[in-house]
Amino acid sequence: MVDIHSHILPMVDDGAESWEVAVAMVTMAGGDGVTHMVATPHANYEYAYERESHTALLEELQNRVGKDVQLILGCDFHFSYDNFEDALQHPHRYTIGNTRYLLIELSDFSVPPQISNMLFSLTSNRLIPILTHPERNPLLQRAPERVSEWVDMGMLVQLTANAFTGKWGKGVQKLANWYAENQLVHVIASDAHSASRRNPVLSEARRMVAKTYSEEFAKRLFETNPRAIINDERVLG
Ligand SMILES: [Fe+2]
Repeated sequence: MVDIHSHILPMVDDGAESWEVAVAMVTMAGGDGVTHMVATPHANYEYAYERESHTALLEELQNRVGKDVQLILGCDFHFSYDNFEDALQHPHRYTIGNTRYLLIELSDFSVPPQISNMLFSLTSNRLIPILTHPERNPLLQRAPERVSEWVDMGMLVQLTANAFTGKWGKGVQKLANWYAENQLVHVIASDAHSASRRNPVLSEARRMVAKTYSEEFAKRLFETNPRAIINDERVLG
């Protein structure tokens, strides 16, 4: 499996709090069948994002964990106007590796009124936005059909693995299944923050998705599509 969303870099945001935790998270993912993991530190009002220092940390982490799990740098990109402008100027400061794919996270408190224009600008600049965990966003929980409009504009959707297992509650679990039933999900990732509560285990959710829908669907969301993303290839709907 390939995990495109995780907070494994130590001491840079609210993810791994030490080198020990960072190493434990990658080791846990590897043991669970993950071959590639994208480290996605936050870029928001609380945490500054520095590509160079994050790259150095990623290399150090790769050295410490060995070659079993391949690490790639990405960003949990808060979709503020300032961030958006900077990404248009310097896309590979935030994308997953040097690909076209950019994770975007919406605020819990407001959706930018000009979001359609912002998405159009990204796709016009050959970037492919991937919306992170809409099933956990309080505004989109009340209006999930908005996501459908944005998917029609070329945006992809990433859901949280543990949303399917019920770790985020029944409401979030139901919404995750709503996205799956409506073919509005392209990839499932861990969004892991630690080796304990919000850990990087994907296999449990993969089993549930395979059982509820099909093995083919689970394979696409946990393997084929995230692998296409890190290889800068086209993602299947
Ligand atoms: Fe995240």
